[in-house]
Amino acid sequence: MFNESHLLGTIDRTDSSRTRRVGAFHTRPAEEVDASILSVIEREAFPAQWPPTRFTNEISRRRAVYMVATRDYMEPEIPEALRDQRRLAHSSMWNRVSSGLRQFLLLDESKSAGFPKDYIVGFVGVWFIVDEAHIVSIGVRESVKRVGVGELLLLSAFQQARKHGCKELTLEVRASNNAAQSLYRKYGFQSVGLRKKYYIDNAEDAIIMTTPPISSVEYAVMLDSLARNHAERWGHLPEPIA
Ligand SMILES: CC(C)(COP(=O)(O)OP(=O)(O)OC[C@H]1O[C@@H](n2cnc3c(N)ncnc32)[C@H](O)[C@@H]1OP(=O)(O)O)[C@@H](O)C(=O)NCCC(=O)NCCS
Repeated sequence: MFNESHLLGTIDRTDSSRTRRVGAFHTRPAEEVDASILSVIEREAFPAQWPPTRFTNEISRRRAVYMVATRDYMEPEIPEALRDQRRLAHSSMWNRVSSGLRQFLLLDESKSAGFPKDYIVGFVGVWFIVDEAHIVSIGVRESVKRVGVGELLLLSAFQQARKHGCKELTLEVRASNNAAQSLYRKYGFQSVGLRKKYYIDNAEDAIIMTTPPISSVEYAVMLDSLARNHAERWGHLPEPIA
């Protein structure tokens, strides 16, 4: 898993399907073993979220997909990832209380057996409802923000939407979440409505944002060009569609 090329920044040719830049991220579908790390990332990306997502259920949900952005482990990250799992239960008074509550409610994800095969830095969850792809959650680790991972995950959501024959993508976003809104606007999402006082922690409104029809020629051309620019800028690769 870890080899010298990671340190030297050379090209990793171990991936038989394609050559990718070392340090670049790629996407794959989440597996059950990833659930506890997704909980850690959710806690970091959405500190106000309650109740926490039951990722083991979500990952196996029908008509849904969770994609993760990952790269190979570098040596110090293996113990760090292990620490992440323990941090779930022990890092603060709040975590101890919420961990106790989760165990009481049987929501504790830290009991998932095993260990992810690569270093997960973010995830996107998509539910397919009739012919619409609903992005239920997208978040990245603080340490990798602003290096194209959110965009990579959004691109993989588009791929999944296409794969499932969806006509458009839709989501809700906090009215104050300028970073996420800017990401969505870059990909042509438009505000189509408001859910008043949608978020229970602070009664904040949610803006409903939706894409134009994604199979229209104009949109497909725009998406293609955004995906190409993203790959050239960052070298990250979404999972190829079979
Ligand atoms: C929103 C989020 C997923 C973006 O991820 P990211 O990896 O940092 O974003 P990227 O580096 O891929 O940036 C892609 C685009 O998003 C927008 N963006 C991201 N962060 C931004 C910021 N802090 N301010 C303004 N625009 C921002 C920009 O349009 C950017 O394009 P650019 O690089 O050409 O300017 C990330 O900030 C996050 O996890 N936030 C917490 C969870 C959350 O709010 N999720 C959305 C719920 S609806």
